[in-house]
Amino acid sequence: MAVILLAGGAGYIGSHTAVELLNVGHDVVIADNFCNSSPEAVKRVEQITGKNVKLYEVDITDREKLAVVFEENKIDAVIHFAGLKAVGESVQKPLVYYRNNIDTTLSLMENMNKYGVKNIIFSSSATVYGEENPVPYLETMKRGVCTNPYGWTKAMMEQILEDAAVADKELSVILLRYFNPIGAHESGLIGEDPRGIPNNLMPYVSQVAVGKRECLTIFGNDYPTADGTCTRDYIHVTDLAIGHVKAVDYILNNRCVEIFNLGTGTPYSVTEIVDTFEKVNNIKVNHVYGDRRPGDLAECYANADKAWQVLGWKTERSLADMCRDSWNWQKNNPNGYNN
Ligand code: NAD
Ligand code: UD1
Repeated sequence: MAVILLAGGAGYIGSHTAVELLNVGHDVVIADNFCNSSPEAVKRVEQITGKNVKLYEVDITDREKLAVVFEENKIDAVIHFAGLKAVGESVQKPLVYYRNNIDTTLSLMENMNKYGVKNIIFSSSATVYGEENPVPYLETMKRGVCTNPYGWTKAMMEQILEDAAVADKELSVILLRYFNPIGAHESGLIGEDPRGIPNNLMPYVSQVAVGKRECLTIFGNDYPTADGTCTRDYIHVTDLAIGHVKAVDYILNNRCVEIFNLGTGTPYSVTEIVDTFEKVNNIKVNHVYGDRRPGDLAECYANADKAWQVLGWKTERSLADMCRDSWNWQKNNPNGYNN
């Protein structure tokens, strides 16, 4: 079994991935500065799995401080989750986003180079397909024109990693393009804990249901979709986490430079999400229809065949599971990790 460094591993997707890696017997090292997470998430990962995680509080942009993590551990592969991810904020503070997201990547890659670590899996996003490509998105499509600095950081980091793999024939790179992760671990012990007003749909729905917010605004019901609201490829975060375990197995056994979509391949509309959440949890979610949100695409979903063909991975959890587990986390932790 291998030692896997999760950069940004205390966050939403990283903590769920840590659980699944530990469950199959890997050792997990987490490096995080908690700028958007809490050490409590790592304690909960240990509680769920009954295993220890080696945790470093470090700003990953700080190459020298990060070197200690590489010095003290014989790392086999890195999964790079560490980044800022709020689209709206990235438009307000582009330099902060470019600095943090690009520098975490360079600092990780430079340390990997120095310490001879040859495997990196990167958290990319469906956002890199841009506005031009038709759905469903296929990995063979060209990266598109991104609509915001956050998206551009993802596109640039993909390019940086691909260039590094051209120069170093021993370096393996997997770019995972996530679609819309929602849900939480079935224990209800870890989940998404956004700071302030949530930008994303599911945390907003859950906070309305729990009474923290009054009403959800559905952004637009005049899109060219079946019910007029936008459709997305929502994926249970545990399925997503298991996708990382499969990517780790693959990268440890193959020299590769590969892109994989991690989605279900099935789009659901905003209205379907709200209806399913209400039905499976037997709770009301107050909502109104409002204006479109600038920058939103009508539809976004994956062709998920490649991950199945190459990694042997596909999603197993339903939309009902996603809604149930999101609510289970929210109602047990109304204030996230600050209970
Ligand atoms: P998150 O904010 O919960 O996790 C990111 C983690 O990185 C946090 O724990 C944060 O504290 C840490 N971090 C950020 N900058 C750091 C730095 N300089 N040094 C050390 N730690 C740092 O986000 P998430 O939802 O778990 O997303 C993980 C990754 O996946 C991100 O790169 C994100 O852009 C990408 N992604 C997320 C989604 C999504 O919908 N959640 C979709 C596509 C891609
Ligand atoms: C957003 C980002 C995307 C990022 C992804 C995951 C934008 C334009 N895109 O995608 O780059 O990779 O998050 O972090 O921000 N919705 C409502 N009301 C709400 C919130 C959302 O109706 O209060 C709708 C949106 O219009 C959208 C759907 O719900 O149709 C999902 O929204 P969201 O969770 O923000 O994800 P994306 O827009 O797909």
